[in-house]
Amino acid sequence: MGDTAGETKFYSNAEGYWKEVPPTVDGMLGGYGKISSIDINGSKAFLRKFLGEGEGKTSAGCALDCGAGIGRISKRLLLPLFKTVDLVDVTQEFLDKAKTYLGEDGKRVGNYFCSGLQDFVPESGRYDVIWIQWVIGHLTDNHLVEFLRRCQKALRPNGLIVIKDNVSYEGVVPDEVDSSVCRDLQIVRNLVGRAGLSVIYEEQQVNFPKEIYQVHSLALR
Ligand SMILES: C[S@@+](CC[C@H](N)C(=O)[O-])C[C@H]1O[C@@H](n2cnc3c(N)ncnc32)[C@H](O)[C@@H]1O
Repeated sequence: MGDTAGETKFYSNAEGYWKEVPPTVDGMLGGYGKISSIDINGSKAFLRKFLGEGEGKTSAGCALDCGAGIGRISKRLLLPLFKTVDLVDVTQEFLDKAKTYLGEDGKRVGNYFCSGLQDFVPESGRYDVIWIQWVIGHLTDNHLVEFLRRCQKALRPNGLIVIKDNVSYEGVVPDEVDSSVCRDLQIVRNLVGRAGLSVIYEEQQVNFPKEIYQVHSLALR
């Protein structure tokens, strides 16, 4: 990556890949739909550590679901906890599906943004939580750093950014099939630091199948 032509292909190949994926929970999770509940329950426990009233606590006003897909996370994690949720994803077909998949609670969706995160500018000071799950591998290092910087500006007081994603054992592992990369935890931490953010809490998701990448959640401010 790095060169413009390579970057353009990296993004357009990913867009092409996701256009062919069925708009289902199984599609969102690469055939691992069965782990969705474990994932959501882990995320709920993680997020609850920060939410509440009082000194330093994150409010439950508005959340942004980044790389939201059909809204799997919005439906079971964010809409039950926040008054309003916005979704952003590069695949219009997934956002279209979200409009029915989210059911009654979908009435509390503020915005469906169809955009690549590399281009997306979240509204300044709007969000209590910005949730970024299973999508950072689709951004180049520089775009990820710049996106995180924009996310920081989009936070309300005591707001929180959460990255939850696969981490490799060592280095950067490319995936030619969906046009993404998997970074090791130290590389992710370094990119977070380059964005001017600090990791305030970190946890590994437990009870996932052994054959898949380790998944880590990082709370950032
Ligand atoms: C593995 S799915 C995860 C969906 C959701 N986060 C979840 O956990 O259910 C990856 C999602 O990222 C989206 N995506 C891929 N590249 C993207 C980009 N550059 N910007 C925004 N979304 C992207 C895809 O359309 C897809 O919905």
